[in-house]
Amino acid sequence: MKPSDFIAAQLPILEEELKSRVTRSDPYGGRIWEAMAYSLMAGGKRIRPLMLQLSACAAAGCIREDVLRETLPFACAIEMIHTYSLIHDDLPAMDNDDYRRGRLTNHKVFGDAVAILAGDGLLNLAYETLFEALRQNPAPGRVRAASVIAAAAGPDGMVAGQTADILATLPEDTVSDHLSNDPGAEAARLEYIERNKTGQMLAAALRAGAETQGASEEDCEALEHAGFLFGRAFQIEDDLLDIEGSQAELGKSIGKDASQNKLTFVSVYGVEEARRMVRELSGEAVRIFRRWDNEPSRLLGAWIEQMIYRTK
Ligand code: IPE
Ligand code: IPE
Ligand code: MG
Ligand code: MG
Ligand code: MG
Repeated sequence: MKPSDFIAAQLPILEEELKSRVTRSDPYGGRIWEAMAYSLMAGGKRIRPLMLQLSACAAAGCIREDVLRETLPFACAIEMIHTYSLIHDDLPAMDNDDYRRGRLTNHKVFGDAVAILAGDGLLNLAYETLFEALRQNPAPGRVRAASVIAAAAGPDGMVAGQTADILATLPEDTVSDHLSNDPGAEAARLEYIERNKTGQMLAAALRAGAETQGASEEDCEALEHAGFLFGRAFQIEDDLLDIEGSQAELGKSIGKDASQNKLTFVSVYGVEEARRMVRELSGEAVRIFRRWDNEPSRLLGAWIEQMIYRTK
């Protein structure tokens, strides 16, 4: 089996489940469900939910239908949180972007107020989904998985990374932190941003999947570490694609990092070093998956390897 075979088999099931969770009619509040579904059902690579499920299978030793079924709510929750983060990331007060996942951004269609609420709605729906899954089966590993996702998404995780990203780029007459003139001195700040805004959710996906299966602390830590390495590589690749990619393939605006003076790996170290770093970090992540001799961990390693060459 190749990663694309796994994705082809699981993606329709995930899409169906996500859709059923945001299809609701409401005489006065219906617009919020429309706005949530607009961004959630706009495609997206679904890396986090599918990696969560693969990691659960890796911990179980093979790809198992029952494991895929019981991790579906966790997969949906992490994708809802990720999509909310994108809706808010695109708002005029943040990155001010017009395109996402091949369509106009949420606020362009529904307005800023409803876009903020759509993000709030998806975040809360994620926790409803997790609590409902735990109510049905409160196995300790599942409780740990939910708590891993919550911590990664919050002010010690993705939200912290987004804050550091924004404060590093706001014009100095507002509330920006003062950046040093020496690009090398920004290395630690940059690594913090990459680790938190992007690494946390990918590390959580890999760790939470294994936690649901009651994997050992050692295995969970190894997967989480692989997620952080991959997350950093993934963000640097995203920064490269903002320069070298095409809007048609990516489905989102390009060239914005440079025009908004973003602190990115490419802006500090340049394109060549960024390419080298993506290869190095991905290679390190891939090596970690070799400690398990089973098909799902081979698929995770192969998928990460393919990401280096992604164009969307
Ligand atoms: C975009 O994430 C934001 C980053 C962390 C770079 P993805 O590239 O996974 O976006 P979707 O989910 O496929 O739209
Ligand atoms: C955002 O990073 C990461 C999130 C937590 C949403 P970017 O701002 O670089 O993501 P894109 O390029 O807009 O997808
Ligand atoms: Mg951003
Ligand atoms: Mg952005
Ligand atoms: Mg980007």
